[in-house]
Amino acid sequence: MYTTLLTEISEGIITITINRPDKLNALNRTLIEELSALFDNIYKDAAVRSIILTGAGNKAFVAGADISEFNELDATGGEELARKGQQMVFDKIENCPKPVIAAVNGFALGGGCELALACHFIVASENARFGQPEVNLGIIPGYGGTQRLVQLVGRNRAMQLLMTGEMVDAKDAETYGIANKVVPQEILLSTVKQLLMTIHSKAPLAVSKVIECVNNFDHNQQGYDFEIRKFGECFSTEDKKEGASAFLEKRKPNFTGR
Ligand code: COA
Repeated sequence: MYTTLLTEISEGIITITINRPDKLNALNRTLIEELSALFDNIYKDAAVRSIILTGAGNKAFVAGADISEFNELDATGGEELARKGQQMVFDKIENCPKPVIAAVNGFALGGGCELALACHFIVASENARFGQPEVNLGIIPGYGGTQRLVQLVGRNRAMQLLMTGEMVDAKDAETYGIANKVVPQEILLSTVKQLLMTIHSKAPLAVSKVIECVNNFDHNQQGYDFEIRKFGECFSTEDKKEGASAFLEKRKPNFTGR
């Protein structure tokens, strides 16, 4: 059904593999459209509880937006590429009510780094390399990189990465807080699956509200008010009753997502 993506569902986890290995999985127009359509389905599909995003092959997660599509673009075209991409894919991933984890298995550059940053967190293999090399091409990130990177690594590290275009290896990415964990490539997917199975054992509505609240992080009062509202909403769920009862009755909770 998709020409640039492979999908596989098991135990409620959909593994999406970006599949253009001969172009290091670069994001072309078709790929953006297909990812957008896939996430629309994932939002609606009750059989999918969480998502892993990874790249085909053992060399690259995604080596950026497809540079071969840049030549035809003028200022309007460039702006449209960035706006459409952000709305169709990156915002949808960030705001997905189900956990989306990036399993970064190699180069995550430019749009590929931005794609990983849009996920809820990142686990990387030892050969992973992260970078925003857009300045080498006379451009800047357009898929939210300048905004998400600064939130994640802080202003000065973001400035350095964005101005030098240099790559950081997996170890530095872990130190910077880009990757939560670094593991050998052979166990990358199984490590992420294990983390997701832990999350699957929690109340799904509570997990969704965590995603919403963290995404609404705000230095000002708004983020705190948002959290208060979402906290209140949890108290009208069956899972909240089940969670408290199970604890008091010293048994495992049976969450239903209601
Ligand atoms: N867009 C389009 N094609 C890309 C690409 C991208 N972002 N990144 C890699 N490719 C293609 C190469 O053109 C090459 O295609 P070809 O075999 O038809 O010539 C193929 O993928 C393999 O890449 P290659 O450069 O030969 O691999 P390498 O191991 O020598 O270098 C990288 C790997 C990642 C360092 C290098 O490919 C690179 O710098 N890519 C661009 C990264 C970038 O600037 N991304 C930001 C874009 S905004």
